[in-house]
Amino acid sequence: MAHLIAPSILSADFANLQKDIEMINSSEADWFHIDVMDGVFVPNISFGFPVIKQIKKYAKKPLDVHLMIVEPDRYFERFKEVGADILSVHYEACKHLHRAIQAIKALDMKAGVVLNPHASVYVLEDILADVDLVMLMSVNPGFGGQKFIKNTLAKISRLKELIEKTNSKAMIEVDGGVNLANAVDLIRSGADVLVAGNTVFASDDPIDTISKLKKIS
Ligand code: DX5
Ligand code: ZN
Repeated sequence: MAHLIAPSILSADFANLQKDIEMINSSEADWFHIDVMDGVFVPNISFGFPVIKQIKKYAKKPLDVHLMIVEPDRYFERFKEVGADILSVHYEACKHLHRAIQAIKALDMKAGVVLNPHASVYVLEDILADVDLVMLMSVNPGFGGQKFIKNTLAKISRLKELIEKTNSKAMIEVDGGVNLANAVDLIRSGADVLVAGNTVFASDDPIDTISKLKKIS
């Protein structure tokens, strides 16, 4: 399957959000990547339900919502109501990850689990068959525009092996510091979805940058 591109709204122009949403609609991007931060799980606060609801009004592609919040289970229904299509929780934020994944799926959303850079892919061995997606953080979560952590490449290969061994259908998404230079290696290592914030929104021609990311093989 060809890889997917998910531009991260965190780097968009919040005073002109509709314009950036329409840019993504008209581009070759596949998903909208939406970062929710609570100032507790990560040292930053982004945005919440009212903003996501507005994004949903204009977005013509699925909303890939990345929760960087503690006790995410408290809000699954609210995220469904405002239009999340894919909902991912951090492994590090869930005491009862299996229950959380089942709860997301019961609300008819795709369920993802996210791993911080320090966490081994092997902690997911017993949940892989249940998830639709595994997101590997290739920066420490909290901010856009950080430097890519190279160890992620080896993690992708290990995760891919584990996915095959457990007969899982999970997609591998990579989030943080993705650019036109490292995207080739990420795809070759087995990434299915690339998140890109700064690389897309700080470029002179975001539509062309998305197209370049999409054409990598
Ligand atoms: C970081 C967020 C990322 C961020 C990526 O905590 O999860 O999605 O927006 O931004 P870039 O691509 O600029 O590293
Ligand atoms: Zn993210």
